Amino acid sequence: MSKFAERYGPWAVITGASSGIGAEFARQLAGYGLNVVLVARRRDRLEELASGIEDMYRVEARVAPADLTARNIVQVLQPALADIEIGLLVNCAGFGTTGPFLDMDPSVQESMINLNCHAPIVLTHEVAQSMRERGRGGVIFVSSVNGFCAAPGMANYNATKGYDLLFAEGLAAELAPYGVDVQALCPGGTYTEFQHVAGLDSRALGPLSGLVFANASTVVTTSLRKLGKRVTVIHGFINKLNVFMMRFMPRWLSTRLLGTALRRLAAHH
Ligand SMILES: NC(=O)c1ccc[n+]([C@@H]2O[C@H](COP(=O)([O-])OP(=O)(O)OC[C@H]3O[C@@H](n4cnc5c(N)ncnc54)[C@H](OP(=O)(O)O)[C@@H]3O)[C@@H](O)[C@H]2O)c1
Repeated sequence: MSKFAERYGPWAVITGASSGIGAEFARQLAGYGLNVVLVARRRDRLEELASGIEDMYRVEARVAPADLTARNIVQVLQPALADIEIGLLVNCAGFGTTGPFLDMDPSVQESMINLNCHAPIVLTHEVAQSMRERGRGGVIFVSSVNGFCAAPGMANYNATKGYDLLFAEGLAAELAPYGVDVQALCPGGTYTEFQHVAGLDSRALGPLSGLVFANASTVVTTSLRKLGKRVTVIHGFINKLNVFMMRFMPRWLSTRLLGTALRRLAAHH
């Protein structure tokens, strides 16, 4: 058994596993020898991924189709989680929207808070109890570089990601003495279905998009390499530089600059 599997196995639960960063977490964790529970709404996608993982790696893969915006997600997921020892939880499911907040459907904005903030905390509260008792394990919150800064056009999304970031940093300090590693993963632009759902288009950046956007596989590799070594993990040099430069700017300026960049990405959608 790999050291990673000893520390974070035998099972990992990954939300948002039907595509993008979450699906990549599932593949790479299976590669480390962890059994995986795959959570998202699209059952067909989850089943296809689970069977691919079981063919490729000597691990078990379970699917747990669920809408994580529901208030009773702990009960909904209970049957899939009750009989396994969970050593790693990856809170990855999330979505964003672009446009003026007052023109948005308020129920969609509320769903975003439920998915991006409520689901991670209630799942963590449920799953990390036994990690603390065992004195080992990990929880990853997929935040974003957007969590460091407000932005017009993505006011609610950035606020949810700021919540994930601060929550993860606080929890990391609470659980470190018990041997449980918490990480706030902060990707920048990543090629997944996120842009399409959020109404953004990376092609707006032209040749720069290759510099600014990353593949999900490299984001996940960075996260797993840093797990237990670093709490706040920003993927990519440009993203690190942007977050670093924000420290020296007045907040109104970083808000305005990010808003301009997002308007450009949204205009091409
Ligand atoms: N891509 C980026 O540029 C980027 C940058 C920074 C941070 N992030 C963050 O990375 C995380 C993963 O996003 P991604 O880029 O991989 O996007 P993605 O490809 O759109 O994946 C989003 C995942 O969330 C799941 N999901 C959405 N609504 C759900 C619901 N109501 N219940 C359960 N699952 C739901 C989706 O599955 P179903 O539709 O099957 O439910 C999918 O598996 C998100 O938290 C996002 O905020 C992304």
